Amino acid sequence: MNDQDWVDIGSAAELSGQTVQQVKVGRRKIALSCVDGAFGAISGVCNHVGGPLGEGQLDGEYVVCPWHYWKFHRVTGEGEPGYEADRVPRHEVKVEDGRVKVRSEPTTRRQKAPHAPHPLEREPEPNDGPLRVLGISTTAMDVAHPRTSTSELLLDAALEHARGTLGLETRMLRLSELQFRTCEGFYSKSAHACTWPCSITQMDPTDQMEQVYDGIVHWADVILVATPIRWGTASSLYHRMVERMNCVQNQITIRDRVLIRDKVAGFVITGGQDNIQAVAGSMLGFFAEIGCVFPPFPYVAHSRGWSAEDMENNVRSVADSEELRAGTRALLDRCVDLSQRLQETSLSAKRVPRGGRKAHRESPGQEAASPAQP
Ligand code: FES
Repeated sequence: MNDQDWVDIGSAAELSGQTVQQVKVGRRKIALSCVDGAFGAISGVCNHVGGPLGEGQLDGEYVVCPWHYWKFHRVTGEGEPGYEADRVPRHEVKVEDGRVKVRSEPTTRRQKAPHAPHPLEREPEPNDGPLRVLGISTTAMDVAHPRTSTSELLLDAALEHARGTLGLETRMLRLSELQFRTCEGFYSKSAHACTWPCSITQMDPTDQMEQVYDGIVHWADVILVATPIRWGTASSLYHRMVERMNCVQNQITIRDRVLIRDKVAGFVITGGQDNIQAVAGSMLGFFAEIGCVFPPFPYVAHSRGWSAEDMENNVRSVADSEELRAGTRALLDRCVDLSQRLQETSLSAKRVPRGGRKAHRESPGQEAASPAQP
């Protein structure tokens, strides 16, 4: 290195006004920090998935990445205690004649400590055994004081049919029994900040959304989702789950990686008031976006109707309705039939183009897509 490596990046008086900031030194992004007039300069690119360290905050002597909160010493670039081996490059910095100068070449190299891949990260494998049917009940309730859910009653009937009559494997997830955090909008920071597995899943081993990811991405061939109607839309737990599944769809956007192939989805929708078609449309839209396919007539639904407020009779009327149970079993049959056909023709052997709503370029000759929006 020689004197020409020093790059003047601005006045010390101005640059000391912010504790951390992202600056450019030549073509490099640098996280410049200043504490009590002492500057530090480290790479502005995080070791994890490239977050902009200079847009983070300071925690003592550590720069905290704004994407998923990894920390690096603001002067040495080393990871926080216990993670020192995870290190971003350090740059020398000095103040001369009131100007801040940073060496363009780093004095240490980037070093990434090995991190064991999350179990969900594995490639989804085709299922060679009996078809697997996953039921997801999204009804919210106090599990210590359970009540009967009409959508779950019908979902139970479908799973019983899958197990008992068709000899399939089944699994039931009740979202009300899972502890999982709300999506915290990593995608809103940057598409690349929304990771697979979900950033929350990677950071928080107590978060039980993992069971939903595992069920949908790795286990199921057929997914039946049941929801009540709440103020004209699906349940709040359904929406919490779907928000957390942005990471599945986002893999298609940022990595052209389709995690869900040849999986069939169907829906059970019940409510005390109407809006069935809008709820179904929203559910179909989302599950289509993540790669699911649907049988003819992909949902069964029941509504007590606008004029009837006798919800105390609703559970009994659904429980007594052989017609609704038969309809839900028939929905399951249609899903299974489509799933079997997919396995025979094996769509998964072919590349599934991203295409669709976002109109991604499928070959070099075509127009590129506009920047992705959720
Ligand atoms: S913590 Fe920096 S990119 Fe994830």
